[in-house]
Amino acid sequence: MRAAEAALGHVEDGMRLGIGTGSTAEEFVRLLAARVAGGMTIVGVPTSERTADLCTELGITQSTLDETPELDLTVDGADEVDPQLNLIKGGGGALLREKIVAAASKRMIVIADDSKLVGTLGRFPLPIEVNRFGLVATQLGIARAASQLGLSAPLILRMTDGQPFVTDGGHLILDASFGRIPDPRALSNALHAVPGVVEHGLFLNLAKVAIIAGEGGIRTMRPA
Ligand code: A5P
Repeated sequence: MRAAEAALGHVEDGMRLGIGTGSTAEEFVRLLAARVAGGMTIVGVPTSERTADLCTELGITQSTLDETPELDLTVDGADEVDPQLNLIKGGGGALLREKIVAAASKRMIVIADDSKLVGTLGRFPLPIEVNRFGLVATQLGIARAASQLGLSAPLILRMTDGQPFVTDGGHLILDASFGRIPDPRALSNALHAVPGVVEHGLFLNLAKVAIIAGEGGIRTMRPA
């Protein structure tokens, strides 16, 4: 809540805002809605159907990225944050739209609590969004690509209510517990080279500011 409040201080009247997904981003949406009710004018581009539904419910004006392809600011949560502000995202399954929206924004601010801070990414299972076609072949391709970097992990098909979890884009998610990802850029490149991989949850060099809430209060971090 405190990180979301602090992020609101970066929102200016008239902004085109990318609006993230997840419990922390939802706190931001609720606070933003109160500002909008008080007269602030913004247009929001949600990063998921779930966030779009919340924005509709709370009366936040929305646009699509096609109508508004350049955004001033995106505020979103994260599953892990390293000292360079590289992130793992996608615990909520919205990584593809989250990454497209963040990349279309002049600035991305990450809001999180200090339990998300890590020295090296990889403790949180890395979500990898894949096409449904050729799932097993894609899994093998990912395992081969990772092994060339000395990484290995079970690639677990994300399930919900006994069925494969399906993203807003109609794809599946494999969660890969690598444990440590010493070279996230190399893994990112290797994953993008595997046919069938739609996107992955490594957000590298996208966040310029992280607002981190901890027992001692709020901390603003910039890339080390
Ligand atoms: C959604 O797909 C994710 O990228 C979330 O931003 C991330 O999982 C953080 O979510 P919480 O704020 O709920 O921890």
